[in-house]
Amino acid sequence: MALLDVQDLRAYYRTEVYGISRTVRAVDGVSFELQRNEIYGVAGESSCGKTTLIKVISGTIKSPLKVETGSVNYHFSSGDVDMVRTKADDLRANVRWKEISYVMQGSMSVLNPVRRIMRTFEDIVGTHQGIPNRREFVEATRAHINSLGLPPDVLNLFPHQLSGGMRQRVAIALATVFHPSLIIADEPTTALDVVVQRGVLQMLKEIQAASGNTVLLVTHDLAVHANVADRVAIMYAGRIVEEAPTEIIFNQPSHPYTQHLIHSLPVIGDKSSKDALSGAPPNLANPPSGCRFHPRCPHAMDRCRTEVPEMITLTDRHRVACHLVEEGVS
Ligand SMILES: Nc1ncnc2c1ncn2[C@@H]1O[C@H](COP(=O)(O)OP(=O)(O)O)[C@@H](O)[C@H]1O
Ligand code: SF4
Ligand SMILES: [Mg+2]
Repeated sequence: MALLDVQDLRAYYRTEVYGISRTVRAVDGVSFELQRNEIYGVAGESSCGKTTLIKVISGTIKSPLKVETGSVNYHFSSGDVDMVRTKADDLRANVRWKEISYVMQGSMSVLNPVRRIMRTFEDIVGTHQGIPNRREFVEATRAHINSLGLPPDVLNLFPHQLSGGMRQRVAIALATVFHPSLIIADEPTTALDVVVQRGVLQMLKEIQAASGNTVLLVTHDLAVHANVADRVAIMYAGRIVEEAPTEIIFNQPSHPYTQHLIHSLPVIGDKSSKDALSGAPPNLANPPSGCRFHPRCPHAMDRCRTEVPEMITLTDRHRVACHLVEEGVS
């Protein structure tokens, strides 16, 4: 059984300003599964709904975001969790940190700026498990930091005394304290330079390989997915348009949007100019009808403007939502 099963999830931001209501359909019909022991990448340009999807599956939904329909079900070894129905207090007590942990861009939201790193570990472990013996706790924390290849001295420092890369490694160390089944990382290396980025991603990969947990890695940066992910889902305007093992996404992309993303990746030595996509990313408060990519798609047909393409399975693990591909297959 999959670790996570998401079915037809719709999550919208509903706001009202000066009596004018606005609905942003940020996640609009998303279905996918996360398997145990895999790194699953979610890609797509800014504002396509990646972070909103994560908010829902990590159970960190706040108004004005609301789940409209769909299901998000986990099958942990400690038991099943229905993320849409479980109360926030239950999630806080039993699921967050222990089964699901979350690494964000910049990491400052989890590291308290006025407390030494050890204190932050103490806060998290104290809240979620208790610290009956402080000496043992300090030793275990130093051993954990050490096992991840970080210098134990970082525990005595304040966050601002660490480089961005080291701060992000500490955030990952914190996220793995309870050996969660799922680590969700949202743009974890976006603010870092390429060399530092590589080290942080390597750390994430090593932790995953050693513990066999699942990592959900969200970033707009396809180069990161190429290096790290086992499978990749491409999001466009609140929907997954293609999902496949990483080598298929990069070598045989089927969806016109994925093809555009892959063909616009820089290639060393190639000085030819890349075609930009015409048109602007859609406004999710008023998304295009039919296939949301149709105003920008070079292959758009009449039915693309009216009919939402269904997700079809091309091969075992390759899924795509596009009328053109569907017609080519049938
Ligand atoms: N708190 C909010 N209220 C209203 N709209 C929001 C809010 N947060 C995000 N959005 C909108 O939801 C859409 C998806 O955003 P997001 O999930 O952050 O995308 P991504 O992570 O892919 O950049 C965007 O149109 C964004 O403007
Ligand atoms: S469904 Fe139509 S508009 Fe959408 S990607 Fe496929 S061909 Fe293009
Ligand atoms: Mg985001």
